[in-house]
Amino acid sequence: MGKKVLITRIIPSLAQELLIKAGYDVTVWEGKSSMTQSQLIERAKSVDALISLGSNKLDKHFFDECSHLEVIAQYAVGFDNIDVKEATSKGIPVGNTPYVLNEATADVAFGLMIAVSRKMFFQHKTIERGEWRQFEPLKNLGIELTGKTLGIFGLGRIGMVMAQRCRGAYNMNIIYHNRKRNEDAEKKLGCTYVGFDELLQQSDVLSVHSVLSEETRGIFNKSTFSKMKPGAIFINTSRGGVHHEGDLIEALSKGTIWGAGLDVTNPEPMDANNPLLTMPNAAVLPHIGSGTVEARNGMARLAAENIIEFYRSGTMAHCINPSVLGKGKGRK
Ligand code: 8YV
Repeated sequence: MGKKVLITRIIPSLAQELLIKAGYDVTVWEGKSSMTQSQLIERAKSVDALISLGSNKLDKHFFDECSHLEVIAQYAVGFDNIDVKEATSKGIPVGNTPYVLNEATADVAFGLMIAVSRKMFFQHKTIERGEWRQFEPLKNLGIELTGKTLGIFGLGRIGMVMAQRCRGAYNMNIIYHNRKRNEDAEKKLGCTYVGFDELLQQSDVLSVHSVLSEETRGIFNKSTFSKMKPGAIFINTSRGGVHHEGDLIEALSKGTIWGAGLDVTNPEPMDANNPLLTMPNAAVLPHIGSGTVEARNGMARLAAENIIEFYRSGTMAHCINPSVLGKGKGRK
């Protein structure tokens, strides 16, 4: 009898097709929204493997209840919804879907940067409100990006594509701050490593591409915004928890920084009355970074392949906790 796999939301059918072709018994949660925690636990109890989404909370309680799971493939590159330490302690390998969404997510960061620099979202709303009456020589002027300094917080796979886009389109000077230096980016794009304070002080556009961790949670806050240039644009397409929303709203209203573009908020979804949605210098999107046909298909393929490869050979190309591989789970 084939292994049982639960996909916790309808995702591109490619995942299901690959799994069925490999001989697995696949169930898809077809609800319009995510399962509740108890629905997830109840259903996960009767399967061997899971394709999870960022909206599923795979915490200690989940792993205590579902320690029988043999493998989890997250349909996302980020995995801050998963207590990886708990998964590891239960011997469960967890896979993710890197690379395939680099272009799509960098496009959203790049698009938000331009949108904020010209107040595009706000300007669009002025037409909707019937406020476009005549040419305005001095109203709602933007700022240009050519030759400016792009600062990247977390220069990895997605940050690298953002850097390439900004260099190619605007010949921007690129600085970055990471835990580890990115020598490839230094060599290929001439990116310069700087300390965190220098990144804040020198960036005209500061784009966040880091993971959300205890180290990065709330790292962009009143104190850090106050170190940025008054003309700076803050872009976040990684996780909403990296910035402190109240402090960002204050920084934007007081002119501490010039503008902000967000594809991620905290919480998600954002409340429809959130002041950021009506501020002239803000542009907000509903977490659409990976939302292209190509990226979502790629994610579906990688998620399925992570499971198939694990059962076939005990390995996994994109494993977050490789130390558990080869320890016996799933090889019954
Ligand atoms: C997903 C993402 O839309 O991959 C990620 O980390 O944030 C997005 O691609 C989302 O997390 C779906 O699980």
